[in-house]
Amino acid sequence: MTVRSRKEDAWCMIDVEDTGCGIPAEVLPKIFDPFFTTKGQGEGTGLGLSVSLGIVQRHGGEIQVHSHVGKGTVFTVRLPALHVRMPVGKDV
Ligand SMILES: Nc1ncnc2c1ncn2[C@@H]1O[C@H](COP(=O)(O)OP(=O)(O)O)[C@@H](O)[C@H]1O
Ligand SMILES: [Mg+2]
Repeated sequence: MTVRSRKEDAWCMIDVEDTGCGIPAEVLPKIFDPFFTTKGQGEGTGLGLSVSLGIVQRHGGEIQVHSHVGKGTVFTVRLPALHVRMPVGKDV
């Protein structure tokens, strides 16, 4: 697994890359669906990506995925790099 982060314009980008089995093209459109799993009964819940996408979207971001079967997968999380100024020495 490799995790990289960088800033691109007004976005924070985080790549989460693996050298795993990859995801076949016909499976890719379903991976963010709640309860979609290719794992056996009792192994997968199918909730990891759907919950992750929900969290990222509520922060105004998105998740992109690139995958090659037999080589691995990269998930890229893109979050708005908002600069919020908090008053110093004051209760808010
Ligand atoms: N890094 C990955 N490499 C290959 N397939 C993946 C990867 N992440 C997710 N998937 C595919 O997407 C499906 C849904 O993933 P997820 O929502 O995390 O649920 P779960 O891990 O419980 O199956 C997995 O069952 C698998 O088919
Ligand atoms: Mg998972």
